[in-house]
Amino acid sequence: MKRVAILISGGGSNMVSLAKSMTGDHPGRPCLVLSNVPSAGGLQKAADMGIPTEVVDHRDFKGDREAFESALISVIDTYEPDAIAMAGFMRILTPHFISHYAGKMLNIHPSLLPKYKGLHTHQRAIEAGDAEAGCSVHEVTAELDGGPVLGQARVPIVEGDTEDALASRVLVKEHLLYPAVLERFLNGEKGLLTL
Ligand code: GRF
Repeated sequence: MKRVAILISGGGSNMVSLAKSMTGDHPGRPCLVLSNVPSAGGLQKAADMGIPTEVVDHRDFKGDREAFESALISVIDTYEPDAIAMAGFMRILTPHFISHYAGKMLNIHPSLLPKYKGLHTHQRAIEAGDAEAGCSVHEVTAELDGGPVLGQARVPIVEGDTEDALASRVLVKEHLLYPAVLERFLNGEKGLLTL
């Protein structure tokens, strides 16, 4: 059974979807939910699901990224994860952290990568007049939102779409895509999954 640590910063809806998917003959089980934000709503959801939780508050390290990441690593490694799923984790990670978990780390990004890396992805797609938007699950490398894409899901952008309306439409697909990609990843299956 593969042990999966999930990193969050907010509500953790992707974390919940991932945790709920890891049952039965799924090769993974959640071993930890960690947040950099003590008040993150996802921490209570994880606790309610019986998943161990931890907080490493980046504010305690006053902008010293290396020290923050060293603290993250020491906490995470006590849970001996085989994979790390970033799920709404809103801190940029340096090669120091990423190299420690090279090849074991996934992230979900709310755009059709390589388009719209970074923030405000839905607003940018709407403003560009794109016909569709979506989400991507990718391996985490040192390049922000730049690792190999393992899965994508598309949604239409409709006339008059607001950022919130589009974000909600994409989030529904995130909750389907991420669990499917994680299972394939843990089974060592390659290739791009398209939903
Ligand atoms: C989602 O839009 C996800 O794509 C991004 O963070 C947002 C919140 O996710 N990574 P969650 O509800 O905290 O999982």
